[in-house]
This record gives sequence, C-alpha cells and structure tokens, in this order.
Amino acid sequence: MEPILLLGASGQLGTDLRRALPTGALIPLTRADLDITDRDAVERVLAERAPAWVINTAAYHRVDDIETRDARVAFAVNEVAVGHLARACARRGARLLHLSTDYVFGGGPPEPHAETAPPAPLNVYGRSKLAGEHLVREASPDHVIVRSSGLYGIAGSAGKGGNFVETMLRLAREGKDIRVVDDQVLTPTYTADLAEAIARLLAVTPPGGIYHLTNAGKCSWFEFAERIFDLCDVGLKPKRTTSAEFGAPARRPPYSVLVNARAAALGVPPLRAWPEALDAYLRAKGHLAN
Ligand SMILES: NC(=O)c1ccc[n+]([C@@H]2O[C@H](COP(=O)([O-])OP(=O)(O)OC[C@H]3O[C@@H](n4cnc5c(N)ncnc54)[C@H](OP(=O)(O)O)[C@@H]3O)[C@@H](O)[C@H]2O)c1
Repeated sequence: MEPILLLGASGQLGTDLRRALPTGALIPLTRADLDITDRDAVERVLAERAPAWVINTAAYHRVDDIETRDARVAFAVNEVAVGHLARACARRGARLLHLSTDYVFGGGPPEPHAETAPPAPLNVYGRSKLAGEHLVREASPDHVIVRSSGLYGIAGSAGKGGNFVETMLRLAREGKDIRVVDDQVLTPTYTADLAEAIARLLAVTPPGGIYHLTNAGKCSWFEFAERIFDLCDVGLKPKRTTSAEFGAPARRPPYSVLVNARAAALGVPPLRAWPEALDAYLRAKGHLAN
C-alpha cells in the first residue's frame, strides 16, 4: 500500500484517522513533527516520505479569537501554508485531501448547501478556510477538499479546549445557567464517523474536487445540547438564546447543513444520523454505559 501522510495527527479528526486508515501505509505527523507553516520542513518531509496521499487536518480554528485578534495566524495556517502544501504535493505527484468547513457558507435560504453551491463566508475564519480551498483547487484538479461541520471526537480539540459535548457536560456539572443558540442550524459530526468515511473515500480513488461529509440530519446547537442533556440524564435543561443575545464576536451561518452527494455517488455509504452518532460518542467516552 502506498504511503499516506497525515498532518495534524493529534487533533480530534487526526486521532480518529489514525484508527481508520490502514496502519501499514500511514505516516502520522503531529504539529511537533511538522509545522505546516514551515515551508522547508514541508518540502523535506514530502521528499523523504514520497507519499501518494497527504491528508491535511491541521488548521487554526478558534473562530472568535480569529475574528478579534488572530486573523494573521489564521491566514498563515489556513491559507498560505495550505497553498504551499498543495503546490508542493502537486509538484511531487502526491494527491492532497484537505479538510475544510461549513463556515465557508453564509446566509441565503435555509436549504442544505450542495457541493457546487457558491460559498459566502460570514467570518474571518471562514474566509481564511475558503482562501485555502481556492489555492488547493488552483494547485491541482486532482486534489480533494472535504468539508464537514460541528466536529466532536474522543481526543477533543486541544486548540479549543475540548469540544461542544464536553463543554456542555462540564457546565452542567458546575450547575451553570446554560444558554445555547437556537438560530444556527447545522449537522454535528462525530470524527470517528468522518474518519471512516474519509478512509472509504480514499479507497475508491475519488476524482478531485469538493466533497461534503457530515453525519445525517440537522439540528440547532440548542437542540444538540438538549439531546446531550437528555441522553446523559443530567437533570438540567439548556435555555434557548439567539445569536444576537449570545453576542459572540464572530458571526456564524444561520443554516450550514451540507448535502453529501458526491461521495455517495461513488458508493461511499452515508454517515449515520447525528443522534445515533452522539449516542455512540457518549458510550465510547464513558458518559453512558455500554
Ligand atoms: N472542529 C470543528 O468543529 C470543525 C468543523 C468543520 C471543519 N473543521 C476542520 O476540520 C479539520 C480538523 O479539525 P479538528 O476539530 O480535528 O481540529 P483539532 O482537533 O484542533 O486538530 C487540528 C490539529 O492541527 C494541529 N495544528 C494546528 N496548527 C498547525 C500547524 N501550523 N502545523 C501543524 N499542525 C497544526 C493542531 O495542533 P495543536 O493542538 O498543537 O495546535 C491539532 O493537532 C480542520 O481543518 C478544521 O478546519 C473543523
């Protein structure tokens, strides 16, 4: 099996990709092994390892910090480094599978976004990820972009200090008054399921371009929190709020559900419904008995 280089290997998705991809072929690199903003190091690793595929999960995605003070870091990691990586891969005959986000979409009617729908990001993070997508597509028509949404996984995101599910459970344990926005609708996605789908996508040698991969169905962040509390029987209820009342620095798309059409057309089975995925996560994490 030809080598697959995995970047951002200790993140939530990276950790699950290490489990889902064939171990014999996999070269997992954490940020300590390779900082993707270090161009020379990227060139060196590609030359040494000669991968057939590079999977890039590395990103800077603290959405509110990016809006208020870290735009420069976001563009350095999510645009400039990704562009360089994509061109370096193309020069060496490696294909890149790059992770992107539902936050490339903005307003418009509350309809699921097709892979071909025109993006219109509402915040700086979304703009930095879209700029990265453009450079990936420019570098090679064979490169693959996988957009997903609302990720949560066993490893948690070090950069974000965990994930939404763990944050909700912690706030509940602390007996806090928990207000969650009910006017942002998306599909929360379990990284174990996304990793499995990415492994299946690679196995069918997909044509280049954009693929949407999320769990099935949709909910607001409030409905997601409500389900977490119900399943874990925490004896508390979250309260509904609006994005305007919540007042986060970065605007988020009110509706960012993604149509998962292209992978399905290649025979990749659709991901399960989000409530089932959440249940599986809670069991795997030990919040629910198996
Ligand atoms: N999280 C979400 O809700 C979400 C939703 C849609 C799409 N996505 C996209 O999905 C991908 C994976 O997200 P995730 O939730 O798995 O993120 P994550 O858990 O934060 O993992 C990202 C990894 O990238 C590493 N990294 C950051 N900057 C790097 C650099 N300059 N060089 C090398 N590695 C670097 C991080 O290392 P450190 O921990 O040391 O910083 C971390 O291990 C990202 O592309 C993200 O944009 C995420």
